[in-house]
Amino acid sequence: MSGIPHDHYEPKTGVEKWIHSRLPVVGLLYDTLMIPTPKNLNWMWIWGIILTFCLALQIVTGIVLAMHYTPHVDLAFASVEHIMRDVNGGYMLRYLHANGASLFFVAVYMHIFRGLYYGSYKAPREITWIIGMLIYLMMMGTAFMGYVLPWGQMSFWGATVITGLFGAIPFIGESLQTWLLGGPAVDNATLNRFFSLHYLLPFVIAGLVIVHIWAFHSTGNNNPTGVDVRRTSKAEAQKDTLPFWPYFVMKDLFALAVILVVFFAIVGFMPNYLGHPDNYIEANALATPAHIVPEWYFLPFYAILRAFTSEVWAVQLVQFVTFGIVDAKFFGVAAMFGAIIVMALAPWLDTSSVRSGRYRPMFKWWFALLAVDFIVLMWVGARDTNFPHDWISLIGATYWFAYFLVILPLLGVIEKPAAQPATIEDDFNAHYGKGGTDGAAAQSNPAE
Ligand code: HEM
Repeated sequence: MSGIPHDHYEPKTGVEKWIHSRLPVVGLLYDTLMIPTPKNLNWMWIWGIILTFCLALQIVTGIVLAMHYTPHVDLAFASVEHIMRDVNGGYMLRYLHANGASLFFVAVYMHIFRGLYYGSYKAPREITWIIGMLIYLMMMGTAFMGYVLPWGQMSFWGATVITGLFGAIPFIGESLQTWLLGGPAVDNATLNRFFSLHYLLPFVIAGLVIVHIWAFHSTGNNNPTGVDVRRTSKAEAQKDTLPFWPYFVMKDLFALAVILVVFFAIVGFMPNYLGHPDNYIEANALATPAHIVPEWYFLPFYAILRAFTSEVWAVQLVQFVTFGIVDAKFFGVAAMFGAIIVMALAPWLDTSSVRSGRYRPMFKWWFALLAVDFIVLMWVGARDTNFPHDWISLIGATYWFAYFLVILPLLGVIEKPAAQPATIEDDFNAHYGKGGTDGAAAQSNPAE
């Protein structure tokens, strides 16, 4: 798959030529910014930029928070209170960072579900997808460790429950758990290493984001039709695309501004809405909270973890076959990670030759059900495990796996897709009329 043909940077003045022959960095920036982008991208394509913004926001606010935070069990809780009360702008810094994590996850879920609907994971964008999944796993790790740092009750008990899951792994579990914690229980060594890793991981994520962007710049963006940009010549490609700057930069900035209005309203007026009141009580190893609930963005996978109890026949069967090595706890842990692994394998599980869900009449319904399933799992993940919640999580978890392992492979064989537009230009003209709503397309495509 070759890149989309387009203009490249040409150094003009002597200075430009001098720099370009030694370090073609301006050329790299030019090519990145002027990359031909399908002109029919809709509002679901804003989330990548929102994610980039979130990463920058978390790094900047996090670095300043770290200047005032103390990673010690005797001082951590008080140091966060000190940030909130004494540090200039500290209250806002902390709430920007805490709610910034939530915005980050809202954006990543929208971004992932966009990819799942429009088939952005399919060839040739498998590597973009896999790198995305690695980013998502790292985001989960970073958020989990970050939540431990304020050293409140939920920090401590959340860390105890989640690191306890590693203890469920047969044979190596217990030593692995001790190694992760730096001791037999969540304590000062744990807090220290979590702080260190929480500081490090966002930079690893930033590196992965660069590779992610490199990957989809090599294949070109997907678009709502899933139809490829014509690449036979530059003139052809120009009929399907617009340069990223200024068209998509302006669109994305507008979307960011709208989202930030909501975000700042939450940070300013209801900063603890998504938090748990128990985290304003200092960690106490002798007092277990009544309900230990993870942050909202972990809930769907937490629900899958809890769905597989020892009463489920599949768990009993596996336990019997493995002579008890795989118990219900380990089954749950495997299911939680498995739920993410099957999603990462979507490029190879989806057998349909049609990329976009728009032209897949049956797929649409199963996909809608997956989105509902995700919300239901999120809801049930915060409830107790009594009836009917146990059943709801089991059905929800089963559907998650069935979607990726059974429905996606089958649909490609049995579904009869609807007609797709021949070109992106056709789709664009069908929506906005020839030449575009603002004349932008006409301006960049004098051939039209
Ligand atoms: C820090 C996190 C992430 C950042 C900053 C990021 C950034 C971006 C950007 C800027 C784009 C292009 C614009 C857009 O499609 O919105 C993009 C595309 C894409 N991302 Fe991400 N992404 C992140 C996480 C993920 C995750 C978790 C996945 C899912 C596995 C993913 C999968 C994709 C795919 C498949 C595309 C290609 C879509 C297309 O070509 O139209 N990304 N990403």
